[in-house]
Amino acid sequence: MPEKPLCRLVVLISGSGSNLQAFIDAVAGGSLPAEIAAVVSNKADAYGLERARKADIATEVIDHKQFDSRERFDAALVDTIEPYQPDLIILAGFMRILTPVFVSQYRGRLLNIHPSLLPKYPGLHTHQRALDAGDTEHGVTVHFVTEELDGGPAIIQTRVPVLPNDDADVLAARVLEQEHKIYPLVALWFAEGRLTLEDNGVVLDSVVVQPEGFQYESA
Ligand code: GAR
Repeated sequence: MPEKPLCRLVVLISGSGSNLQAFIDAVAGGSLPAEIAAVVSNKADAYGLERARKADIATEVIDHKQFDSRERFDAALVDTIEPYQPDLIILAGFMRILTPVFVSQYRGRLLNIHPSLLPKYPGLHTHQRALDAGDTEHGVTVHFVTEELDGGPAIIQTRVPVLPNDDADVLAARVLEQEHKIYPLVALWFAEGRLTLEDNGVVLDSVVVQPEGFQYESA
């Protein structure tokens, strides 16, 4: 029997790309049977592009400042991504609000990671906001992307404690460590055909996931 083709990923970044690195490492280490077909950035100086080049992954830059509307930028994004024939699009610190032009094209195969326990703290500065609110726990959510900013059906969450002397950087690092574990894991579920977005919500192994996402306890 011919082997099933590898799940093709396109990863969108705007910055450091440490989540991208987690994907690169998972693919190289054999824990994620997938191929990163391309890395796309809206910033030419994103360090993640360097990570991609080191791993011999194709890179593309589309500078959002060259477009006079979000819709035109998103249309260019789709035109850039499509030749890579992705099965799954991974937003990994891609700091642009996406329009229906993009989101509808990839419905059910577009993932985002957000550093908060959504629906708490969509948007920016999530760690500082958790500290300011006096939260005793914080965390990360991976979700399917819909038109709502940092919204869309949650797939998985991991919680971390907020400790007495934390500042935003310390807390961000604690969350990031968990991000790097759960994001490739979600992609693995997708690649194995175990994870889908259905009309009644997120389905993992034939079971509808609770609205907050599967609660993942990490070591
Ligand atoms: C990550 O913490 C990710 O969760 C966050 O940006 C960071 C990117 O880091 N994403 C968002 O805030 C999306 N709203 P990285 O470039 O090192 O992967």
